[in-house]
Amino acid sequence: MKGVILAGGLGSRLRPLTEITNKHLLPIYDKPMIYYPIQALVNAGIDDILIVTGGNNAGDFLRLLGNGAEFGLKHVNYTYQTGEGGIADALKLAEHFAGDDKIVVILGDNIIEKNIAHAVRAFDEQESGAKILLKEVHDPERFGVASLDGDKVTKIVEKPKQPESNLAVIGIYMYDSRVFEIARTLKPSERGELEITDVNNAYIERGELTYDVLDGWWTDAGTFESLFRASELVRNGGANLAD
Ligand code: DAU
Repeated sequence: MKGVILAGGLGSRLRPLTEITNKHLLPIYDKPMIYYPIQALVNAGIDDILIVTGGNNAGDFLRLLGNGAEFGLKHVNYTYQTGEGGIADALKLAEHFAGDDKIVVILGDNIIEKNIAHAVRAFDEQESGAKILLKEVHDPERFGVASLDGDKVTKIVEKPKQPESNLAVIGIYMYDSRVFEIARTLKPSERGELEITDVNNAYIERGELTYDVLDGWWTDAGTFESLFRASELVRNGGANLAD
């Protein structure tokens, strides 16, 4: 299985911090943000990784990470997203890299405490389709929110005003290679982006989306509040870097 880290976009919610640098190069406690998703993939046994970057200072990723020796990697792949067309737009750039393989996609601003190896192994054994990870949160309106019926996800709504549950869809997604066919059919949402939630809903329609509930803490780091919280969580509770 291959790994894709989405670190494009313009980080507009963090201006002026992101005025002259890329959001994913900002610090989370004692490491640049991008270190955490890389380590999360490596901990799950994935060593063939593509970083989709974009916006400001894309070249700095190469200077910072090189070929990933710090993470025990021999090579890191990079590509560049022009503009801020959305998470699914950034994912499209991974098609050539993924080929016929399954992929684990992680958003560059998502930070988790524990190892996801168990879920990755389960997806490896899943014949086809997709798998998402859910986490109970107190502010579901900030995220994609899943509705469940027994062990099935019935729908996901992106940032609902009145969430039907408190189960956020976290920014770690596992897909078979048909994700790129699905991505080609997407239309921009009201916020002008190709939404990953639309991709996941397409898998629900095909009856091919499974889920796990994430163990340990999770946070995004795309707002001032969550960026601050991420540093606190890492300082107080460790993160997958310590795994
Ligand atoms: O954090 C989990 C949430 O991430 C999910 O619950 C939502 O369903 C999903 O839409 C997403 O929500 P956000 O609106 O918070 O995503 P944001 O625009 O902040 O982008 C998150 C990361 O995705 C960002 O750090 C880099 C990557 N990205 C985003 C955009 C818009 C790209 O690579 N390219 C892009 O054009």
